[in-house]
Amino acid sequence: MTHPDIQTLIRLVHETRPLITETENAKNITVKGYADFVTKVDTSVQDFLRKKLFDLAPQVQFMGEEEHMDHIDTTKPSWILDPIDGTTNLIFDYHHSAVSLAYYDGSRIHMGIVYNPFSRETFYAVRGEGAWLDGRPIHVTDHEHLDQSLISIGTSPYDRELAKDNFRIFLNVFEKSLDIRRSGSAALDLSYVACGRLDGFLEKNLKPWDFAAGSVILEEAGGQITDYEGKPLDFCKNQNIVSSNSSIHASLLQCI
Ligand code: IPD
Ligand code: CA
Ligand code: CA
Repeated sequence: MTHPDIQTLIRLVHETRPLITETENAKNITVKGYADFVTKVDTSVQDFLRKKLFDLAPQVQFMGEEEHMDHIDTTKPSWILDPIDGTTNLIFDYHHSAVSLAYYDGSRIHMGIVYNPFSRETFYAVRGEGAWLDGRPIHVTDHEHLDQSLISIGTSPYDRELAKDNFRIFLNVFEKSLDIRRSGSAALDLSYVACGRLDGFLEKNLKPWDFAAGSVILEEAGGQITDYEGKPLDFCKNQNIVSSNSSIHASLLQCI
């Protein structure tokens, strides 16, 4: 199946910047659940990209966070979009959120783009071709031990019943690693592991649009991503995600 090239898609994703940074729409908030919000920015970015992607490739299905998913055939190609990964950060003007777009070819993620419109950084990868940050090739760290490693944790904020088990795991990770971080954007966490700003990232119950684009960026940068049992990911389901520079993967899994 032919699909638009990555540079065309990056240009398209960059067009969302004014919809995110030059508007008051982040103050237009609807509550989806406890600590779970959607803003007018999320919906306007999704509406914009859905239409543009359809114009570019009408044959490709569209899976987006702020959208019903009943119509998706998981054996066929699909865009997987998180219009804003890091909505709480956006509402708090924290400047650490991203547009995350992946192309799923019907069996695996073929390409991914993670764009932070505040820092204007674009992380991207094409399966088999490499991973880049703003045109420069990126690679994971070469740290081999957890006690040399900086690990980002995700708190599964919308699943409060997971908190006890999550924080048990975080304590294990903290005790064995250099330190831990909590960023508020899973897509940026995965991209940061890919470019060597972090050595690992883990979070329970992420959705496909949280990790699809970041997963191919990470793998193409030499990293590893699995579920909490060390098994390959299913991109059509929620997953517990462990990601790393590869070398410390087994040690991170042991903390679980
Ligand atoms: C969330 C962010 C956050 C993570 C949550 C995600 P959203 O995505 O990635 O870092 O902890 O689990 O759901 O709701 O801002 O798109
Ligand atoms: Ca998300
Ligand atoms: Ca989102």
